[in-house]
Amino acid sequence: MDPKTALESAYQLLNDSVLCYKGNPVGTAAAVDSTVAAENYEECFVRDFVPSALVFLMDGKPEIVRNFLCLILELRNQQSVMAGHERALGLMPASFKVPCEVDVDVKPSADFGDRAIGRVAPVDSAMWWMLLLRSYVLSTGDLELAHSEIFQEGMHQTLGLYLIESFEASPAMLVPDASFMIDRRMGVYGHPLEIQALFYGMLATAQELLIHNEKNEHLLSLCKKRQQTLRSYVRIYFWLDTERLNEIHRYKSEEFGVDAVNLLNIFPESIPDWIDGWLAPETGYMLGNLGPGRMDFRFFSFGNLLSILFGLTTEQQSAQIMNLFEHRWDELFGLVPLKICYPAVTGDKWAYTTGSDPKNVPWSYHNGGNWPCLIWAFVGAAIKTGRVDLARKALNLAMEKVPDDNWPEYYDGKRGSLVGRRSNYGQVWSAAGLIIANHLLDNPDSLPVFESINF
Ligand code: GLC
Repeated sequence: MDPKTALESAYQLLNDSVLCYKGNPVGTAAAVDSTVAAENYEECFVRDFVPSALVFLMDGKPEIVRNFLCLILELRNQQSVMAGHERALGLMPASFKVPCEVDVDVKPSADFGDRAIGRVAPVDSAMWWMLLLRSYVLSTGDLELAHSEIFQEGMHQTLGLYLIESFEASPAMLVPDASFMIDRRMGVYGHPLEIQALFYGMLATAQELLIHNEKNEHLLSLCKKRQQTLRSYVRIYFWLDTERLNEIHRYKSEEFGVDAVNLLNIFPESIPDWIDGWLAPETGYMLGNLGPGRMDFRFFSFGNLLSILFGLTTEQQSAQIMNLFEHRWDELFGLVPLKICYPAVTGDKWAYTTGSDPKNVPWSYHNGGNWPCLIWAFVGAAIKTGRVDLARKALNLAMEKVPDDNWPEYYDGKRGSLVGRRSNYGQVWSAAGLIIANHLLDNPDSLPVFESINF
């Protein structure tokens, strides 16, 4: 499809997806597709709304973003409490449903994972909420909203929950499986990269948005310290390039005590076969996950891209990640941007990693499918690292296929040549992602979320 028609179609879908409550726009549906299998795609998902919100901000229409930010704060209180637990007020919902216009007395109802498939906890939501608040403030100048009592309280509660001491042995944040964009069992429990990148972004954001006064002094200093230790830890221990791979290949194990080099007792035998030769010199990436005796060598695109966008990677690392995308273009992009992770888990490993999930069969959905919604993050990261050539190439690829196929949620196959077997059409973040990518290429300085968060 030609770019002009593609953009018109994307805007049409985005506008059709707007959800209103009491006559005011408050969010966008995940998909506008009458044939969708899961009814919760009619709901507004916090993470899916982020690309929509960025489009509205770019277009000078912040009202819906403001309404969304306020509504999410109100919905926090709907969280149900399990017997024997206390309510974690800092958690924000995965999604919410708006009542139909006639039900004026019915309030929007939020899902904290208590209705979601697999009952997964939306750990990423509150972090996206805070990051979006920053974008809203930067593009409107409305710092008053962030400084209002209720917003300060919301941030306090979230930071309280996310910084609480639990069973940590590293500065990285520990989460259950499926607690972010990959919201089905995929072996992403522990310390997945995407959560670390969001956590890093949130900690930096908090230092901008919390009022600097005596009351906040302690919290601000905690945020600063944790941000610094997280950054050093991820930059060193999550990083993989040919040099690091050689070190790990020759790691000694069973080291005891403070001078250990192989800190997490990673066994070199766990290095998968595919990696030898896959990584070329001058390329590299952040590992998918890291824990005791566990290095997840899979390449997760979104986590790597967010790490670049939020400045969690060094400049050198960012450049090497972009080189990897270039070097492995066929595998990571194929026919439609962009692989969610590479490679897929197969065979017995698929059975025990996913619980034999038919939606996550190899090279489908979260298990190595291609997700058009990731285009905005790729284009943003490419522009940030000076790789406009790659950004343009990726966007052209997306423009060619995704709108013609009616905005699928994801594609199947090693090269992403098939519309996902259980994919929705009219998936809103596929369209919003393309609008942002296009806008960024035309106006590289336009998007506040891409301004480096550096402390
Ligand atoms: C799927 C995705 C999740 C997304 C939701 C709505 O569950 O895994 O990331 O938020 O669909 O699009």
